[in-house]
Amino acid sequence: MAHLVLDPSLLPTLQDKVVVLTGGATGIGRSAAILFHQHGAKIVFGDVAEQPAHDLVTQLSTNIHFVHCDTSSYQDQLTLFRTAHEKHGRVDVVAAVAGVANPTSIFDPAADINEEPSMLEIQVNTIGSLFSARIGMHYIRQGGRGGDIILMSSIIGFKETEDLVPYTTSKHGVVGIMRGLHLQAAKENIHVNVICPWVTRTRMIVGIEKEWAAQGLPVNEPEDVARTILVCAIANRGSDGVTHGGAKLPFSGKIVYMSGGEGYEIEDAQKSLEPQWLGEENSKILARGQAFLARADISWDPEKSS
Ligand SMILES: NC(=O)c1ccc[n+]([C@@H]2O[C@H](COP(=O)([O-])OP(=O)(O)OC[C@H]3O[C@@H](n4cnc5c(N)ncnc54)[C@H](O)[C@@H]3O)[C@@H](O)[C@H]2O)c1
Repeated sequence: MAHLVLDPSLLPTLQDKVVVLTGGATGIGRSAAILFHQHGAKIVFGDVAEQPAHDLVTQLSTNIHFVHCDTSSYQDQLTLFRTAHEKHGRVDVVAAVAGVANPTSIFDPAADINEEPSMLEIQVNTIGSLFSARIGMHYIRQGGRGGDIILMSSIIGFKETEDLVPYTTSKHGVVGIMRGLHLQAAKENIHVNVICPWVTRTRMIVGIEKEWAAQGLPVNEPEDVARTILVCAIANRGSDGVTHGGAKLPFSGKIVYMSGGEGYEIEDAQKSLEPQWLGEENSKILARGQAFLARADISWDPEKSS
């Protein structure tokens, strides 16, 4: 892993950039909106929580605009991004932070099997992030200057857990969006990265917070995760190869794990160790297959394959 250390000289590159953020009303998203705003960005954010969203707009007063947006609704997300484009003529950064977690296990033996369980986490966290990435790519493309998409997964995007099966599925899905999209996006100078925070002090952790602290386990503050969103948003914006400590350019296709307030890039190490965990021979053959699939004349779409 590589410990990421923000290079403050990159922060001025956010001046006048247009940031579209989902889930900006509370917690991590709210902290991210405040931090982007502090560094001169123009924020258009979507959320379903009206009152805290309006409070944030009142607090920051200029260069911030709220659009009611349920991320699981494609129409709502179109409206969010269209609003940003109409107001500012461009979109530079997309931060898909909105998320929900249902603490009640749908696999509880006492649950009524005839009652269809809620799939809200898949709809909001995974489908919502996919919609943000798709529509965000479209609007970043329009600007012709490239841009950045930052997705919010979780420790649960790569680790096993008990009880939170739909949430775990949804956050593995968010990592999947990054892995499925970043190669194509990089060709258009759009960088797609994903953040996987461990326990972060927001309302999401109320069930475990007290005992967690009693155990002396590490906690991120929402501001720490917000800072890492900015780290991802500006990593590629320096000139002459200047970037954050520990970051490898191009900063794209990365997974940033967060624990105790610090961010660690883990995808590069995971890839470089592949021959060890997959086996040398498997890894070699896999690389040949990947190279084949990357050829311009090969497509999964039979209509396009030659
Ligand atoms: N707190 C943690 O320990 C932790 C750890 C890892 C990942 N995360 C992720 O970080 C993100 C932010 O969570 P948080 O901890 O700040 O909690 P939070 O509940 O304060 O923030 C979630 C935000 O998403 C909004 N939201 C919920 N459903 C929505 C919908 N359908 N459409 C639009 N907005 C919606 C909420 O209103 C809220 O503003 C989530 O994606 C969460 O899964 C949190």
